[in-house]
Amino acid sequence: MKWPSASLLVTALAIAAKPCQAQNSTYHNPVLPGWHSDPSCTQVNGTFFCATSTFIAFPGIPVYASTDLLNWKLISHAWNRESQLPGISWNTWGQQDGMYAPTLRFHDGEFYLICEYLGQSDGTVGVVFKTADPFDDAAWSEPVIFRPEKIDPDLFWDDDGKVYVATQGIILQELDLETGELSQPPISLWNGTGGVWPEGPHIYKKDGWYWLLIAEGGTATDHAITIARARNITGPYEAYENNPILTNRGTDEYFQTVGHGDLFQDTEGNWWGMCLATRSGPEFEIFPMGREASLLPVTWNEGEWPVLEPVRGNMSGWALPEASRDIPGDGPFNSDPDEYDFTGEGGVIPKHFVYWRVPREDSISVTADGLQIIPSRNNLTGIPESNTDGVLSGRSGLAFVGRRQTDTLFTFSVDVSFAPTTPGQEAGITVFLTQLNHIDLGIVLPEQEESGATTKLSFRTLSIGTIAAPEPKLVEVPSEWLDAPIRLELQAADPTEYTLSAMPASDPNARVVIGTASAALVSGGAGNFVGSLVGAYATCNGLGSGTECPEGGCRAIHALEIRWGCAVHLSDRECAIEIDEVGV
Ligand SMILES: *[C@@H]1O[C@H](CO)[C@@H](O)[C@H](O)[C@H]1NC(C)=O
Ligand SMILES: *[C@@H]1O[C@H](CO)[C@@H](O)[C@H](O)[C@H]1NC(C)=O
Ligand SMILES: *[C@@H]1O[C@H](CO)[C@@H](O)[C@H](O)[C@H]1NC(C)=O
Ligand SMILES: *[C@@H]1O[C@H](CO)[C@@H](O)[C@H](O)[C@H]1NC(C)=O
Ligand SMILES: *[C@@H]1O[C@H](CO)[C@@H](O)[C@H](O)[C@H]1NC(C)=O
Ligand SMILES: *[C@@H]1O[C@H](CO)[C@@H](O)[C@H](O)[C@H]1NC(C)=O
Repeated sequence: MKWPSASLLVTALAIAAKPCQAQNSTYHNPVLPGWHSDPSCTQVNGTFFCATSTFIAFPGIPVYASTDLLNWKLISHAWNRESQLPGISWNTWGQQDGMYAPTLRFHDGEFYLICEYLGQSDGTVGVVFKTADPFDDAAWSEPVIFRPEKIDPDLFWDDDGKVYVATQGIILQELDLETGELSQPPISLWNGTGGVWPEGPHIYKKDGWYWLLIAEGGTATDHAITIARARNITGPYEAYENNPILTNRGTDEYFQTVGHGDLFQDTEGNWWGMCLATRSGPEFEIFPMGREASLLPVTWNEGEWPVLEPVRGNMSGWALPEASRDIPGDGPFNSDPDEYDFTGEGGVIPKHFVYWRVPREDSISVTADGLQIIPSRNNLTGIPESNTDGVLSGRSGLAFVGRRQTDTLFTFSVDVSFAPTTPGQEAGITVFLTQLNHIDLGIVLPEQEESGATTKLSFRTLSIGTIAAPEPKLVEVPSEWLDAPIRLELQAADPTEYTLSAMPASDPNARVVIGTASAALVSGGAGNFVGSLVGAYATCNGLGSGTECPEGGCRAIHALEIRWGCAVHLSDRECAIEIDEVGV
């Protein structure tokens, strides 16, 4: 039997590593907290790279780098400019359309990111971006477009140079990376073990076998990873008798929906996996952060089936590489707190801030006075029915910018300078899952008040889902707060509930609680595949015409401070949590 050279190399590395093998390590999951679904990862020269899905959020497909598997720095987005896919963002209404699960691979000096964009009238758009420098947004190429039938493309180079794409089903096609042409007809590889939606395939070649790792069982609590193998890439594939090899199905673990993952090696030859999981418990009612990425040790002995450690908050396994934050690029580490005073010269929008679709030109910028959000006619919800011109639906961008909620417990506050002069004008903060699931606290001049309208604080939630939305509230802004920045604050002092408060920015002691809302309002609903963002918005609630809000008083200027309170991720249900009030 002829062994592929790659496996010889792996074996040699493993043997060489043995004499000095370090003790196993412990760590906490999720290692990429916050909405990071469908992770796909690879290791190059001792640096690990992972990409995750983003649906209609923009920029899309963040790429993170780490040398120690725990500190993950945001280094670029594969889809970072409108010109890479002109028009497609604004053509999308579906809250969970857009960029589905990617696969990230390194081949012959270049990184390849294959993904599919759903929700276009002429069908799914397959994209392959590539770069020799993943640390630079601008270096990501324009995509090669292909037209797939199914989602979740894998990208696999065989030793004979052929390039294969496996997708949901599981089906296999050859892909021409120059033209995007897919071979026809697709070959059916495996239907999984009987769970719904066999998808998220990744093919690995090791020890003379093609290993086909897939996700199945649906994306909720039955989610799982299963595996099959074949001597020929086209099959026949033999399923492992001990499938699923990874799931928290039927358990009462805090981490649920464990599945859709990828496997990779460290430089010692040890295998690891990254997969998605939801910190929801089996009740699966409260999981505002959606699907996050967890790390798991994998034991994959020569010629044997891989053994994946079950995903928990508290993990132990292979010795982790030495802790280091020495990674190029200007993005933040994903787990770090934020604190920004955008005033002054030279401010830029941080790399991890995200929009809902490509933003309208110049709608969100950093000025000498702070982060400026020019109100959009459409509010965060928009009017889906009036999809015709796109403006009021939000299809041409929301005047919103946010970042992922990464911790169960945190404080997020924004100092807002905003003096509405026309009824309907509003600026505020939000926990935003989708246009149909969000929790807002705004400063507004209410529309229904004709004469003598006064500025109010407006607490309002929108939710499709099983939880009833709390009553909206309008509270008079104390006159002594006017004409100065008002701090709007969102606090999760309890993982299940948000408290929204307001105070003069200069006098936090004058805090007034305006409302509380269950985190269930931003769990599932219209956004089962996505996760909550916390951010700021401005709107004139449909007034004005075209894309323009009425004149006057209409620019919202925010200084953002996002202080993440809890140093501890709520890793295990029992884990003691303290709100670290640093800086509050
Ligand atoms: C990996 O390291 C080799 C040897 O140092 C170098 O030639 C190569 O450019 C590196 N590749 C990447 C992607 O950094
Ligand atoms: C998977 O199921 C489809 C539809 O039933 C069938 O046509 C196909 O042959 C099956 N594939 C395999 C590999 O069994
Ligand atoms: C693998 O399958 C292809 C297509 O069915 C076939 O042409 C080829 O001979 C097979 N290779 C081996 C090594 O069995
Ligand atoms: C996590 O695991 C470590 C080592 O296995 C153990 O010492 C520690 O008590 C565990 N922590 C929790 C919160 O379970
Ligand atoms: C170290 O971790 C690996 C991977 O999970 C596991 O297979 C092995 O048993 C562990 N060794 C010890 C001594 O715990
Ligand atoms: C959002 O704006 C629309 C007009 O575009 C308006 O009808 C609707 O009431 C607004 N929603 C909220 C919650 O203010």
